[in-house]
Amino acid sequence: MAEATLTFPPDFLWGTATAAHQVEGGNTNNDWWQWEQGGGGRIYEDQVSGEACGWWKPGGAEADIQRMKALNTNAHRLSIEWSRIEPEPGRWDHAALDRYREILKAMQKAHIQPMITLHHFTNPIWLAEQGEDGQTGWLHPGVVGLFRRFVEKAVSDLSDLCETWCTINEPTIFGSHGYFLGKWPPGHTSLREYLTVVRHQLQAHAAAYTVIHDLQPGAKVGLAHHMVDWHPRHPHSPLDRAVVRLLDQAMNRLVLDTLKTGWWQPPVGSKVELADVRNTLDWIGLNYYVRYDAGFSLRALKSLGIAYDARPGAVRGPGGWGEFYPDGLFACLRRLHQHFGLPIHITESGLPDLNDSLRPAFLARYLQRVWKAIQFNWPIMSYYVWSLVDNFEWAEGYDPRFRFGLYTVDWETGERTLTTSGQLYAEVAGTGTLTSDMVRRYAPDAFDDLFPGQGPADMHRLVASSAPG
Ligand code: FCB
Repeated sequence: MAEATLTFPPDFLWGTATAAHQVEGGNTNNDWWQWEQGGGGRIYEDQVSGEACGWWKPGGAEADIQRMKALNTNAHRLSIEWSRIEPEPGRWDHAALDRYREILKAMQKAHIQPMITLHHFTNPIWLAEQGEDGQTGWLHPGVVGLFRRFVEKAVSDLSDLCETWCTINEPTIFGSHGYFLGKWPPGHTSLREYLTVVRHQLQAHAAAYTVIHDLQPGAKVGLAHHMVDWHPRHPHSPLDRAVVRLLDQAMNRLVLDTLKTGWWQPPVGSKVELADVRNTLDWIGLNYYVRYDAGFSLRALKSLGIAYDARPGAVRGPGGWGEFYPDGLFACLRRLHQHFGLPIHITESGLPDLNDSLRPAFLARYLQRVWKAIQFNWPIMSYYVWSLVDNFEWAEGYDPRFRFGLYTVDWETGERTLTTSGQLYAEVAGTGTLTSDMVRRYAPDAFDDLFPGQGPADMHRLVASSAPG
């Protein structure tokens, strides 16, 4: 019997995503490494990134690039580490740039198109310390020019091997975790600082956009925005709705509206024009993971009464993670399309899963929503699964509940094992389709919601009811 087949465009990019500090190992010269040495429960079991996935060692990244090939993918999003390339202000490490050239050439040979992220959370120690009067690192306005100089150097050296650049990863997550929630370096807890850092990241993005286009007119430049799908806990409660508006303003609109209009409108404080930031995108990147229901709660007075969580009974991630909610991915794609009308790259999507037990079904559901968005003629260019291999998950370290890899990693031996999710993704990427047969074999839990009425029992009923007599 013919299978139901969801077909993707022939030029769709099937990718995976990683970040330098999470896979390279030995990044001793950045603020995260420094933070990891501090202990005190900052990181799960006081772990350190250490050798991570060993990508910096000769042949390390190359071995995983062969795995990208085995997954039939044709794209990969990686980041380059500022602290390696510019270990001291204005001094360039040519050996580090050569190593990145080697990695990019290995990708080219494997027909894997790169997207390079220029800032993915980590900073050279000297950068984190530059500034004065308590305004250091990303709090200091000088960071914009320093980032511009780094980008100019990195792009001049690597532009023959890369055309698609992602300037900055997740300004609101970088800002909130480091400067408001105090969970990441530099461990601050100030709303004012959060706003300053996000603003400087947007200005740094705009400076990078201009310098990249000056150097490489055909480049395609964008930014990866982490988008949470917020809902009011009680849809009719004015207080809960106000909380959702505030969260959406602080975590989504702050970035999306400023990039579109050039007007910076923080949830507190006055509106400021950032004209240089307006229209500095060739594409917009979406990092989507979860849905949260949010609202006002007297029990959350420490955090201004703002409480958010997964819906009761929902399938949720470990720790404080929200709900895995495929329709949220579709809703974010719609919103980005309506807001910008630009090409969209899904720069990260994935889920942490101890035993890969939930992931195949959710991966199938997420991919079906991407397919659906494409049927609406929204320009969705790519899907980059977070992640190719398990890796160092920031404050969660190597907590096994936060395994994200299509290949799972044995941290004792370094051995990689392809997961069921990986097998599913390899068939999808290899054929450019998601079929009912694949879902039946790899992700049976998703079969009934993706292909209702197509299961063997349904077919049997259909045959029986149409039988003569
Ligand atoms: C994103 C980050 C990425 C990884 C995933 C799980 O917010 O960009 O580095 O940690 O979450």
